[in-house]
Amino acid sequence: MRILQGAAEAFDFSMDFAFHLVGGEALDATGDPLPAATRAACTDTDAVLLGAVGGPKWDHETGPRRCEAGLLSLRKLLDAYANLRPISVPDALGRLSPVATSAGADMVIVRELTGGIYFGEPRGNANGTAINTMRYDREEIIRIARIAFRLAEARNGSVTSVDKSNVLEVSRLWRDTVHALHSEEFDQIELADLYVDNAAMQMVLDPRRFDVVVTANLFGDILSDLAATLPGSLGVLPSASVGGSAGLFEPVHGSAPDIAGKGIANPMGAILSAAMMLDHLGEASAAHQVRSGVTEAINRGVLTRDLGGSASTREVASVVLQRMAAMHVNPSAI
Ligand code: IPM
Ligand code: MN
Repeated sequence: MRILQGAAEAFDFSMDFAFHLVGGEALDATGDPLPAATRAACTDTDAVLLGAVGGPKWDHETGPRRCEAGLLSLRKLLDAYANLRPISVPDALGRLSPVATSAGADMVIVRELTGGIYFGEPRGNANGTAINTMRYDREEIIRIARIAFRLAEARNGSVTSVDKSNVLEVSRLWRDTVHALHSEEFDQIELADLYVDNAAMQMVLDPRRFDVVVTANLFGDILSDLAATLPGSLGVLPSASVGGSAGLFEPVHGSAPDIAGKGIANPMGAILSAAMMLDHLGEASAAHQVRSGVTEAINRGVLTRDLGGSASTREVASVVLQRMAAMHVNPSAI
């Protein structure tokens, strides 16, 4: 919030904020991890900036009372079907990464977010048998693949589609559909396919080969945590979920209950998510400035513990804020 307010001041635009509960606190207050008031507010806004949900206090909850159910319902409610997870590794973070090949990696994982096995029916658990269904129809694949191709047009012109078409019918349809769209509309883009198991290995062996990676909900969930080892911490990764009416912006990390309340959580994932939100709202210069503030913190070694530093959440945020202040031209000084 400090940084968004700083950005609005420096770049002379205004934002109206409203705060609503989701996850554990919402459950405690209303008995529902996504209360009606939150639903109503989120469908009547331009953008939703989300903190992480969940914690040990609510781990025993099941079904629709789980904190995660609130998050999944929100994604579905907003029809935010395209989850963009950019991962770029500046040299200063590459040196800290456990993955030796990571410096210079720069990719976006485009994860399908409102379908697949997360939402497929039938699902359930009865009499010692549990079932989940991985399901996609052609239209769902086309719309997510189109987002990936368009993104590649604006980046380095290459898409890797990740599936398990050597085993799954759903993946066979995925691959055929991605290729049909590619030859009809995007044949100037370089398209490669990888099986998800091999993609996991390549992401560690040779992460710089990836530009845009497009994949199904569950595969994208797993690969994005794997890719988080490249910059050295899940704490730096932002995400944007788009496609519906309002964009949904959330860091990739969870609620990190072991360090909650200590003021030492890495704010970069949340700050960079706010930057993606600013881009979405048409404030590209402000978004750029926020990002350069984060780069500055990295280069100056103002890092939280997850990245081997000792800075507090507030100290990292302050470096980014200074960057906003540097932009601010006081009219009375002219
Ligand atoms: C993520 C998270 C969520 C997911 C959980 C919290 C439901 O892991 O955003 O990657 O699986 O999508
Ligand atoms: Mn995840």
